[in-house]
Amino acid sequence: MFFPQFRARRIRGSETFRRMVRETSLSVNDLVYPMFSAFGSGIRKEISSMPGIYQQSIEHVLAEAKEVRDLGIPAVLLFGIPEAKDAVGSDAYSDTGIIQETIRALKKEVPGLAVITDVCMCEYTDHGHCGIIKNGDVDNDSTLDLLAREALSHVQAGADMVAPSDMMDGRVGAIREILDDNGYDSIPIMSYAVKYASGYYGPFREAAESTPQFGDRRSYQMDPGNRREALREAAADIDEGADIIMVKPGLPYLDILRDLRNEYDLPLAVYNVSGEYSMIKGAAQRGWIEEERVVLETMTAFKRAGADIIITYHAKDVAKWLSR
Ligand code: PBG
Ligand code: ZN
Repeated sequence: MFFPQFRARRIRGSETFRRMVRETSLSVNDLVYPMFSAFGSGIRKEISSMPGIYQQSIEHVLAEAKEVRDLGIPAVLLFGIPEAKDAVGSDAYSDTGIIQETIRALKKEVPGLAVITDVCMCEYTDHGHCGIIKNGDVDNDSTLDLLAREALSHVQAGADMVAPSDMMDGRVGAIREILDDNGYDSIPIMSYAVKYASGYYGPFREAAESTPQFGDRRSYQMDPGNRREALREAAADIDEGADIIMVKPGLPYLDILRDLRNEYDLPLAVYNVSGEYSMIKGAAQRGWIEEERVVLETMTAFKRAGADIIITYHAKDVAKWLSR
């Protein structure tokens, strides 16, 4: 009778053995929690398509940020919903803008929590695009100046790291230069280097009130069919001084994450975006999937594909599950 020499099941038979041979581990240290800070006071409005995620005014952001820190999550990623929007996104680089006020409050009230800011124009422009409009399209080079000013004002307010998400060519270099020129050479840039034009951002646009009022983002975000181009995007940002590079969205682009892991040795982040969150939440609420199991499996997939940092709306839940 034939017996296989290799029996994979020998090391699978008990949880202790499974723990010993597990190749991928997940830790609270891997997580970043995105938050939406809205102008005003007394605001705490749940995003209808993102159960458990809120647009909230600063006092509520502070309270939740303390909870995030106390769970051991190292950082938050901040988005702002300004009082008013205009064609050039003035609030984005105003010293008294929504994000700048939020950063100052967080640095004062929640020490020990790193504050990363999303650097983009779409939350601040009345047309909802990620830059300045000229001739019906987003103009690359005139947008760079504004993005650089925005990043500088975040850092002046106390941001620990900036994360440009606009997908203009040359923005990492422009931001690096203005930060260095102003004495902030030690502030890192996490670049949304490989960001696809994705339907998975739908719920976020409700959360950040940043839906484009005409057209779409395909002239600046990447085409979902492209793989080799991701390496060129990453190379350009690394060349311009990015310290951490990001792939976004997460689950539909795990192959890209793995490509970058194989090619580069700097830290890699993945953004498990709003639509990915909504799908799991929606199915779990209907009892169609087991939320904890599916979320932890998803997080493990990101780590296995090569991510060091996972930006996720599930971060608080994951931190709680991991600490049990
Ligand atoms: C802004 C920005 C977006 C996201 C992060 N930064 C939306 C977009 O590009 O349309 C998406 C995040 C998410 O879906 O969770 N440029
Ligand atoms: Zn944008």
